[in-house]
Amino acid sequence: MSSPSISSTQSVSTSLAWWQAARFGLSLHFGLYTVAARGEWVRSMERMGPEEYRAYFDSFNPEPGWATGWARLARESGAKYGVLTTKHHDGFCLFDSALTEFKATNTPARRDLVREWVDAMRAEGLGIGLYYSLVDWHHPDCPATGDRQHPLRHHPDSPARDASADWARYVDYFHGQILELCTNYGRIDQLVVDFSYWDYQGEKWGATEIQRKVRALQPHITFNDRWANEPRKRVPRPAYAGDYEQTEQNIPREGLRDDAGQPMPWEAWFTLTNSWSYSATDNLWKSPATIIRALVNCVSKDGNLLLNVCTDARGRVPGQAVATLQEIGEWLSLNGDSIYGAGAASAEFAKPEWGRYTQKGNTLYAHVLEQVIGNICLPGLRGRVKRARLIANNAEVIICDYWNPGIQTFDGPDDIFFNFAAPTAWTYPLPDSRDTVVSFDLTDEIDRLSERRRLEEALGRSLERKPIG
Ligand code: GLC
Repeated sequence: MSSPSISSTQSVSTSLAWWQAARFGLSLHFGLYTVAARGEWVRSMERMGPEEYRAYFDSFNPEPGWATGWARLARESGAKYGVLTTKHHDGFCLFDSALTEFKATNTPARRDLVREWVDAMRAEGLGIGLYYSLVDWHHPDCPATGDRQHPLRHHPDSPARDASADWARYVDYFHGQILELCTNYGRIDQLVVDFSYWDYQGEKWGATEIQRKVRALQPHITFNDRWANEPRKRVPRPAYAGDYEQTEQNIPREGLRDDAGQPMPWEAWFTLTNSWSYSATDNLWKSPATIIRALVNCVSKDGNLLLNVCTDARGRVPGQAVATLQEIGEWLSLNGDSIYGAGAASAEFAKPEWGRYTQKGNTLYAHVLEQVIGNICLPGLRGRVKRARLIANNAEVIICDYWNPGIQTFDGPDDIFFNFAAPTAWTYPLPDSRDTVVSFDLTDEIDRLSERRRLEEALGRSLERKPIG
């Protein structure tokens, strides 16, 4: 099966299915804070006043071509969609909003950077996700006093500032901005909001109303879950709960299910270093193998991986990130069939001890993550495999049995094995130490019993295990 194609004409009913099939996306945190180069929370952490933060506004000027460079790299990495911070918690807008002056078109950049990014992503054929921060440290109607993270939380003038704050006015403002984003940039695939805390939850954001208005404009759009912290697994879900769950810097131990036991679409969101936005001192890069394995881990549990890759203030992606993404892309170009459009294997195929399974239709993919000594066990797959291939090069992989079935102790009579060469009992280094992917075409019928009978006849004895003692 081929990877899902991303088209701008996909129908309403298939939008979440499209996103789930895409499996791998990249996100970008971009804004004034990249000039400070110590994280997107810098204004809050250092309790900066607006004048101090203004210095970044006055010097923010990404290079022309920043968006095309990022989008090309996203495509080369094998990602199928991207998410851009159109406004982060600092309230600065990368887009030309009619509702604020605190925007990219008023910086030395003088350009609508959301427009540039959306155009670049479309040109690469990638899905468009827009991130919008519900939290706003710039807007005067968002109270600072007593807030846990507002930069002016301890400022002596804040009580006077907050006296005239009007929450309904802020809600109108941000609803208006979200509608701008969903009106002015063509088809938007995802709206990703961030974040809820304390009583800033659900209807305090006017969440049902704004989602209704957005859907009227973008019927196919998907919403993430950060409109509130609570509904999560509850059934029925509140109207504003969103279409999928997002975990942050964490992959759940098992795929997510709601309280009625139904699988929930989900995505794990990770950083490539340990920072969301460009940090001059964070050089703790995750390796290509770590990301590839995280992606496989997610897909093996029916989840997506959203990987954050930031640019510096000029809009350039650090060299280490470029190299890592290109290597991931190279792996995906060889092994993408086991990721795109694939998901968790059916329940009969439990996680093997040497790695993970993913499955697409009648093809089971073995992701061998650990060097195995001897041949590699496929528990319970006797009679289920028609043929096996190393998908990176379509080379045959040998399906074999216990090397000496008449004598050896059996783990299970329905186990079979595979190996990359003959003699099949030998040990061969894994062809790809990051993740070697073997595809197994499964038989339509479980033919385990007749297979077992054939082996019993060949051995001249029963393979039924007898209780010990
Ligand atoms: C957290 C951080 C924020 C970042 C986000 C990404 O909510 O506050 O800075 O954008 O995670 O998931």
